[in-house]
Amino acid sequence: MSSNLLNRLFSLEGKTILVTGGYSGIGRTFAETFAELGANLAIVARNKEKIRAAAAEIAEKYGAKVIAKAADVNDSAAVDELVQEVVAEFGQVDVLVNSAGIADSGKPMVQVSDEEFDRVMGVNLRGTFIVSRAVAREMIKRKSGRIINIASLAAKRAINNMSGYCTSKAAVVHLTRTMALELMRHNIQVNALCPGYFLTDMNREFFTSETGLKVIKNTMPMRRLGDLEELKSTAVYLATCPPFLTGVDLYIDGGHGL
Ligand SMILES: NC(=O)c1ccc[n+]([C@@H]2O[C@H](COP(=O)([O-])OP(=O)(O)OC[C@H]3O[C@@H](n4cnc5c(N)ncnc54)[C@H](OP(=O)(O)O)[C@@H]3O)[C@@H](O)[C@H]2O)c1
Repeated sequence: MSSNLLNRLFSLEGKTILVTGGYSGIGRTFAETFAELGANLAIVARNKEKIRAAAAEIAEKYGAKVIAKAADVNDSAAVDELVQEVVAEFGQVDVLVNSAGIADSGKPMVQVSDEEFDRVMGVNLRGTFIVSRAVAREMIKRKSGRIINIASLAAKRAINNMSGYCTSKAAVVHLTRTMALELMRHNIQVNALCPGYFLTDMNREFFTSETGLKVIKNTMPMRRLGDLEELKSTAVYLATCPPFLTGVDLYIDGGHGL
């Protein structure tokens, strides 16, 4: 394939990409991939020091323009403000990646409090909705944009003691479909990526424990976790996808959902 064709299909040069949860794990992998391909970035999370440090590291490593914005995705006033700041800085948002998310504390559903259930739904589902709404309003003005929602294998696979998490991720997949349907008339594509298990801060303690290592060996078809490097080509594909590709939930899970 010629480099002209590769550029025409997959170029992110000069694009502005907003990544929530962009300083760590899956969000960081997406952010670094886009920066390496010449995009400008805005990374968003609650921890000010960590996003600032990540923004500085990514800017230095790839020569990209990276701004760090501290906000809770579940706070619509803060999100609306930060999106306006990003637009003022870069002019537009071409791609949004909703990667901010939390796991629940691993209790049977009969022991989960209202507060815990609301907390998980608040970040994973409501947060995805709030950020998407704010960014989509801007994308509509330009009749162009792509939104990538990081859902999970847990969207289709029920997991013991993760009722809030599984429910929130299934809802994110359906939110993706409704957003795709509504936003296609504005030339905005919305797709969900559903990862299997990748080692990140969210699950490091479990997957490095004896029980976690047994789970990998006994329940995962490839007998291993995903490698974050394996997400990079998918990140580029979803950030540059053609208009006809929308409303999809794409599983990258080493066959774990089969
Ligand atoms: N790792 C996996 O195996 C796996 C599998 C399937 C799906 N996922 C999904 O992938 C996404 C990223 O997770 P990860 O594994 O990369 O974990 P991670 O490293 O813990 O990343 C989560 C990120 O979300 C941010 N965040 C959490 N709550 C937030 C809030 N209220 N407002 C703004 N930012 C918030 C965190 O920063 P602050 O705490 O500083 O806000 C952090 O940067 C999540 O949606 C997760 O459900 C992960």
